[in-house]
Amino acid sequence: MKTHITLAVLVWASMAMVSGLPEEDWRPKLGGNYKEAKLSRATCGGKKELEPGEEVTISSPGYPEKYPNNNKCKWDIVSKDPKDTLEVNCPSFYLRKSKWCRGDRLVLSDGKKAAQRLCGQGQKKFTANSNQLTLTFRTNKKGKDKGFECTVKSLAAYGSLGTTDDMFSSTDAPTTKPPATKPPTGGNCNCGVANPSRIVGGVEVSPTHKYPWQVGLKIRRQSAYWCGGSIINDRYVLTAAHCFFNKEGERESDRGLVVGVGDHDMSSGSDDVSGVTKLVAVKKVIIHASYDPKQYDYDIAVLLLREPLNLSSHEEVGAVCLPQDDTKTYVGEMGIASGWGTLQSGGDQPSKLMEVKLPILDQSCWGKSITPRMMCAGYKEGGKDTCQGDSGGPFYVAENSKYVQVGIVSFGDGCASPNSAGVYARVSKFLSWIKTNTAGATYCQ
Ligand SMILES: *[C@@H]1O[C@H](CO)[C@@H](O)[C@H](O)[C@H]1NC(C)=O
Repeated sequence: MKTHITLAVLVWASMAMVSGLPEEDWRPKLGGNYKEAKLSRATCGGKKELEPGEEVTISSPGYPEKYPNNNKCKWDIVSKDPKDTLEVNCPSFYLRKSKWCRGDRLVLSDGKKAAQRLCGQGQKKFTANSNQLTLTFRTNKKGKDKGFECTVKSLAAYGSLGTTDDMFSSTDAPTTKPPATKPPTGGNCNCGVANPSRIVGGVEVSPTHKYPWQVGLKIRRQSAYWCGGSIINDRYVLTAAHCFFNKEGERESDRGLVVGVGDHDMSSGSDDVSGVTKLVAVKKVIIHASYDPKQYDYDIAVLLLREPLNLSSHEEVGAVCLPQDDTKTYVGEMGIASGWGTLQSGGDQPSKLMEVKLPILDQSCWGKSITPRMMCAGYKEGGKDTCQGDSGGPFYVAENSKYVQVGIVSFGDGCASPNSAGVYARVSKFLSWIKTNTAGATYCQ
């Protein structure tokens, strides 16, 4: 572990080492099968703190399409008021039936005496005896069904304060900060301008909204982002192609796809910025025609937003710069990746945006074979890396005090293992593809 790197960055995976993960998580998977995409779509779940009366919707991965086999998702939901109780309602519930629900199952537990195992078909309801609830969805290797969509509502001890079903809808909540506004600039904007750092050190991006181009991808009403992305102009988000495919390489449905803009803590509205933090619907997903779901070559996509973003009105929303020069390799430079990905291979997703600093390597990538469309970054001793859920997110370098996105989080052999660099799509190889596929958009200077 390099201690001169002040960003605490490293917990990213060093934690995993001390906490003793099963060894297979760390052993390179040899043969043609070492690649692991850094998306968290199938690893679902998340944490959410509810205001009294607030409601959140959770669903099985891919719902209403069939859920994956051998999958586990865990949601931890807590109501802010310890006197509240939580009520679960699953009007739509289709899990394969098994004796004692030993196969595919949803287990609800309030940490006290109430626990329930659910499987089979038909509406399910459950009321916790406390303000905490853990929902664990597990599937075995046999068979699939449509899955479930459930609401979890905090029942206020002293009567309901009304409900919201969208974690970004708290625009007039008293905890919401007023927007920081810039002087009007007549629609002109600058790319790659980070907001000033107040704190040095720590894995959590600080201050919040430091990287105003960071977005998260999710299906509306799901609790967690499964991939990241970056704002590159007023209409488009840059991300990875593999975010839209399942583990078998099949294209997933884009129904309900949204990007979270101006967000920091994905489970809480308390650091949302009024008029800035929001979910923006995606109108079109444009995937590179040469994308190869087996090798993750050409792992790039752009998302056309349903409404344009104003990149000059608030400092919490802005565009990252793209490289100007497609010959520069960036070898030896330090890059920064940010995302809501897991803190270790197979671990839980943090709710707050994290960042990690990583040196950019040459194309030999410690013996891993990569294509010219890829870039490697990492430490030989491991310990720092991007991980599942960071996919599609930006990897950038600072050039003349502006941030230039040089990579898109793509894949690796697990996360942060020694001698195993993370692989990024090399943005400079796609400059003309990006320009062609974002025609009509306005870029910042
Ligand atoms: C963007 O915001 C600025 C500052 O609030 C405003 O002057 C400008 O008209 C807005 N642009 C658009 C296209 O709405």
